[in-house]
Amino acid sequence: MTTIDSLSDVAPTARAANIGELPIPPYRGTTLPEIDYDAHPAYGGMLPKPTLSERLYALKIFVKTFAFVTIRRIVDYENMPLLSKEAGFSGLNFSTAMRYIGMYSRIRLSRMIGTLTGARRPAMPANPALLNKIKSDGIVCLTLTPEEIEQIRSVTDPGFAKLDERRASIPPEKRKFDDNVYWCTRSADPAAFASVENIFKRYGIIEAASAYLGRPVGVKHVNAQINDQDLAFWKRVFPDTQLADPWGSYLHIDATYGMLKCAIYVHEIGPDGGPFCYIRGSQNAKIGWFEGMVRRTNDFSGFSGRRPDARKKFMALPALLRKKADFGGDLSDNSPDVARLREGHFPATSNYGNCVLFDGNGMHRGGMVNKGERRCLFILLAEL
Ligand SMILES: [Fe+2]
Repeated sequence: MTTIDSLSDVAPTARAANIGELPIPPYRGTTLPEIDYDAHPAYGGMLPKPTLSERLYALKIFVKTFAFVTIRRIVDYENMPLLSKEAGFSGLNFSTAMRYIGMYSRIRLSRMIGTLTGARRPAMPANPALLNKIKSDGIVCLTLTPEEIEQIRSVTDPGFAKLDERRASIPPEKRKFDDNVYWCTRSADPAAFASVENIFKRYGIIEAASAYLGRPVGVKHVNAQINDQDLAFWKRVFPDTQLADPWGSYLHIDATYGMLKCAIYVHEIGPDGGPFCYIRGSQNAKIGWFEGMVRRTNDFSGFSGRRPDARKKFMALPALLRKKADFGGDLSDNSPDVARLREGHFPATSNYGNCVLFDGNGMHRGGMVNKGERRCLFILLAEL
């Protein structure tokens, strides 16, 4: 589907949203932080100089992954129907590849025609304050009513219950990131999608996202996620060294394009409960097309990892290509960049709201739980 039927030239009205004011100034930087990997104690400072064959090998992997990331970008993968089992996808082979190339081409063509004829256009913002905030800050904290949170809780309880069951069967030290996420689907969890869509429409969130992204959007994913203090993915950043964990650990930009995300807290989250954190206004930092692709390529290829083998491969790349989307763990605490990041760093605890809309192109992190457990819904808004 490439159009939103309800779009009209008259802006719909939305319930006035209770938008929390951010208590910190915006990010003063104009780019993402620059990291001198040659001087970094866990990279150039300790690793041997890469050999020529290591350099060639790293470059080969990089070029292959860059091609993959470019194809994803060209087909606008994030705004395409899912390659999921639910959608009948049985794995990548010649016939499924041909099927999807055909389908993606048809969708791209029909969107292009829709744009040219005016049938495909962004929504009129129903809540201009919301749109203006997301444009200026990259993050907006709204407060849903207790009844709305209760409704969300009741329709996502089955999902959280399945997640609890799955997590209980895996010892905490063996749980991977995905073991803590339950992907709701429209067929198995229609009430979860319906409730989220109703609430988003009520506050004009879908229209604001559409106007911000410049395309029609809808609710693409609803994920239930549990993080607890046992999932310490941001600690022991360089596990083979004695280096202290940096302040910037896990700060990243998303590897995806053309979408907005929203976190809904189904319970109170304080500073130790793993609140979502955002560098205010950092979605406006300048990241060129090539730089953005390089950062995502390193994340997809595994070169952004911080175990010694990943760091060695990363350092075997030419300096120009040594950039990551997941860069926060490499920031030295005493760099001027970190001072600027700390200034604009906003932990979105429950006292600012329970519904956090954000642009993942800005620097952010979350789920770093120090005490207890965080239960949260993540909703992805993209073109359907
Ligand atoms: Fe992210």
